[in-house]
Amino acid sequence: MKTSEIRQKYLDFFASKGHEVVASSSLVPWEDPTLLFTNAGMNQFKDVFLGFDKRPYSRATTSQKCVRAGGKHNDLENVGYTARHHTFFEMLGNFSFGDYFKHDAIRYAWEFLTDPKWLGLPKEKLMVTVYASDDEAYEIWNKEIGVPADKIVRIGDNKGAPYASDNFWQMGDTGPCGPCTEIFYDHGAHIWGGPPGSPEEDGDRFIEIWNNVFMQFNRTEDGTMNPLPKPSVDTGMGLERISAVLQGVHANYEIDLFQSLIRAAARETSVPFSLDVPSLKVIADHIRACAFLIADGVVPSNDGRGYVLRRIIRRAIRHGYKLGQKGLFFHKLVADLASEMGDAYPELRIRQAQIEDALKAEEIKFAETLDKGMGLLESALKDSPKELGGETVFKLYDTYGFPVDLTADICREREIGVDMEGFEREMNAQRERARAASTFKMAGNVEYSGADTCFEGYAEHSSEARVLALYKDGQPVEALAAGDEGIVVLDNTPFYAEGGGQVGDVGEISVTGGVGALFDVTDTQKIQAAVFGHKGVLARGALKVGDEVVATIDLHNRLATARNHSATHLLHTALRHVLGEHVAQKGSLVTRERTRFDFSHGAAVTADEIAEIERVVNRIVAHNVDVSATVMPYDDAMKAGATGLFGEKYGDEVRVLKMGEHSMELCGGTHVNRTGDIGFFKIVSEGGIAAGVRRIEAVTGEGAVLWAQAQDAMLKDAATALKAQGVGEVVTKIGALQSDLKALEKEMAKLKVKLAAAASAELAENATRIGDAKLIVSELEGLDNAGLKETAEKLKDRIGSGALVLATQIDGKVALVAAVTADLTGKLKAGELVNFVAQQLGGKGGGRPDFAQAGATDASGLAEALASVEAFVGGKL
Ligand code: ALA
Repeated sequence: MKTSEIRQKYLDFFASKGHEVVASSSLVPWEDPTLLFTNAGMNQFKDVFLGFDKRPYSRATTSQKCVRAGGKHNDLENVGYTARHHTFFEMLGNFSFGDYFKHDAIRYAWEFLTDPKWLGLPKEKLMVTVYASDDEAYEIWNKEIGVPADKIVRIGDNKGAPYASDNFWQMGDTGPCGPCTEIFYDHGAHIWGGPPGSPEEDGDRFIEIWNNVFMQFNRTEDGTMNPLPKPSVDTGMGLERISAVLQGVHANYEIDLFQSLIRAAARETSVPFSLDVPSLKVIADHIRACAFLIADGVVPSNDGRGYVLRRIIRRAIRHGYKLGQKGLFFHKLVADLASEMGDAYPELRIRQAQIEDALKAEEIKFAETLDKGMGLLESALKDSPKELGGETVFKLYDTYGFPVDLTADICREREIGVDMEGFEREMNAQRERARAASTFKMAGNVEYSGADTCFEGYAEHSSEARVLALYKDGQPVEALAAGDEGIVVLDNTPFYAEGGGQVGDVGEISVTGGVGALFDVTDTQKIQAAVFGHKGVLARGALKVGDEVVATIDLHNRLATARNHSATHLLHTALRHVLGEHVAQKGSLVTRERTRFDFSHGAAVTADEIAEIERVVNRIVAHNVDVSATVMPYDDAMKAGATGLFGEKYGDEVRVLKMGEHSMELCGGTHVNRTGDIGFFKIVSEGGIAAGVRRIEAVTGEGAVLWAQAQDAMLKDAATALKAQGVGEVVTKIGALQSDLKALEKEMAKLKVKLAAAASAELAENATRIGDAKLIVSELEGLDNAGLKETAEKLKDRIGSGALVLATQIDGKVALVAAVTADLTGKLKAGELVNFVAQQLGGKGGGRPDFAQAGATDASGLAEALASVEAFVGGKL
């Protein structure tokens, strides 16, 4: 039975038992910051189990995309070397949310596995385990299903703590959990291994194929087991494992799906197809993880999820290299994968080009250093055949882009140890250097110890405050004098300090009473997390530590910045709406003039898409929805579905910025009160800044008005220059001008020919005679190269027997042609003649015996050089 049929059968079986067939969730679990990648079918239902979320169904079934690489569950190193480890796999699951429990879960599993209508596995090949104290499950297996006692194994807390057991499943350190019963398949006595619970259980003979978890508790951080609102069921069966069983093979890599991918890997690396070459298995496994991750919006990068992806890609490339493939090959497997799995996961077909581009870009990038890195590694291994030094591991990482696990992988293949401690030492030293460098960079900034600044700028534009500290040239001072540049720290401030992509506020700080000191604030930056430095110049008076002041932001500037910031959130929403959910924010910069937004997307955004994005944003602007900010615990924000810039770290309490139903983002910036305040939103540029990353710049409000006015003025100027009746006529006018121009060019070409003909007639008449031959030497004005050539050809025909040299000046340079009639080329060659002149002018040329051309730069000697021709030709003929 084909893998795709098994997947479908499973979903059909549970649909026939009243289960809702739910689509696989993304590999990137946006809702759950505790998880690197989706690693089990139940992830998307976590909140339903906990009772925080409700669905319109109480039974569900899925085929879930899972990745176990990086993070807590990391199978990366084992891939290719064992029978059943993968970075990417599919988990078939059925779920009950307070609906059925142990009886039905067990009955369904048994029916699906053994009924000839479904999978029809021989019962005697199956064994089960139950949690040691779960008598209920034991009785169901034994009495209701009829599994003999010697095929049921009770497994207790075999991992050293209460509930720490192979038969007690939990998603993480906290969250839904419960006892489970697992079903094992016996691959036969010819394979080494013993039944679960025996000393040989780690062998490959008895393979767990299905886990049925009876979700009963929510484990809290202190280890308390709180009963769930309703006991539930969560099951998981690895599709690749069950396929291996049904296809009568032992290793997952031998199933149909993997055979196709391994065949493709062999083709692209030009090695013979074989199921026993670990590198081919690695490549076949990794193309799945990489393609699915990119399809779900992960972009290769140097941290977080992007770095795990990069590590997998590089590991695949290195295995290709090991097979002798030093060219680009990995991205070529995407097409094979799409045809193998695209029916079940259409995103592979939809994003095929995007995936290929991202992989290819990574291949090109790594190719630059792979060869050199391997060279370094080989020579280091020669010098230290027992253990690879930490310095080399670090150098490979830092200079050649070898992820540490990649280096370790290569060493393991050759049974060489890796000095990880030495590597960590080097890493720490580098971190220290970076830290030192950044302190150095901050030298313009300042050291401060004292009270924090209280930010009042969400509600106020002006605050009464006290000066806590002053700095000049980076050093603390007691007072600033008029004309001094410096930094002011206040206890309260309405000034927003640069952060979250939004630039700092500008404005002024004034001393109330007295001489009325005035400090112009040109920028606001954080000195420490909660201490704001107001940078600027003391325009007049004196400012002392302890002074009572009034700090007032430039409201005009602030409102323009806020409009751009709010528009950025709407742009984010519109991008996801128009381009797809894979769009993820990669960075942003919000200033008074414009917003700049970087995001992941594999292709240029088309003009139509831009127009649609603008319409979506402007529609929300026109609806004038309320913009509100609420401070809440991070978990609540995530539960509510807020998005945040991945990679940012948030404290426990976060500020959630909501724009009606349209947008909900974690954000500390300043915003408009209602979307209508944005006024008008216009995208002014779009382009690529890195592989798979695009940048859009846009303007709003007054900035958009200025932009539109500038465009309008440009069009009007164009209309005036074109003498058009209004801007509506500009395009027609340009069209007319272009065809006029074409007509003129044609006319001009004709005239030139005429001119050349006329000139040649005159010249022929005035030719000098040298014996029977005629000689023409002349400088002509206003001809281009083609005209000069044409005139020379005509003259040559006209004179019958003789030679000629013509010159013209084009942009201060000299163009020369010489021609000699065929009867005379035995005595004088055109090339010789043209060079005789050209050399006198610092130039050079060549051509046929009867016709040659040359160019020269020194026009000043032209008359003299031409005058010398007669004697030269006279001597030859
Ligand atoms: N959630 C369970 C597992 O991953 C079924 O094994």
